[in-house]
Amino acid sequence: MIQQTLVLIKPDGLKKSLTGNILTRLSETKLEIAAAKIVHVSRELAEEHYCHMKEKPFFKELIKYILGELHKRRKVMAMVYHGEGAIRKLREIAGATNPEEADPISIRGAYGRITTSGIYENVIHASTNEAEAEREIKLWFEPDEIIYHLYPVEEVTVKNVKKKVWKK
Ligand code: PPS
Repeated sequence: MIQQTLVLIKPDGLKKSLTGNILTRLSETKLEIAAAKIVHVSRELAEEHYCHMKEKPFFKELIKYILGELHKRRKVMAMVYHGEGAIRKLREIAGATNPEEADPISIRGAYGRITTSGIYENVIHASTNEAEAEREIKLWFEPDEIIYHLYPVEEVTVKNVKKKVWKK
């Protein structure tokens, strides 16, 4: 089944200069990158992304982590991977959520760690299932930022919206 999935290289991955290595590992899946960008993550985006984790005791730390506060690197690389079995392929190469339980040759097994306070620094995020992938892709990307037509869109005229454009 052709699917799409959201992949985030988290602030520790960027701080440790692992982007190239991670992209090389991800290319083993033979999936296509349908969108990619570097994001300055806002608290609102972080909390919405992890909204289902609100009750977890580590929620505050999880938010600090994705905001880059633990690594003094406030940026995340967000990508959409697209192709046959994208969700399973990405989860496999990412490895188990807990870096210590992850296959050592998976991305999390190779590069992740658990901090002394018990927080997983597992370098990448990959959507769990199709519903999560859709929710997460729509949260991180506008339709025009993705080269494929993945979900239905509608055209709206937005008035009085302030945005930056290149100075002439
Ligand atoms: S998963 O992979 O989404 O099914 O994993 P799940 O167990 O539901 O965890 C969801 C996210 O919470 C993070 N997590 C933790 N962070 C810090 N400390 C602890 N102990 C911890 N346990 C789970 C986990 O890394 C998941 O985030 P992502 O971004 O998917 O890695």
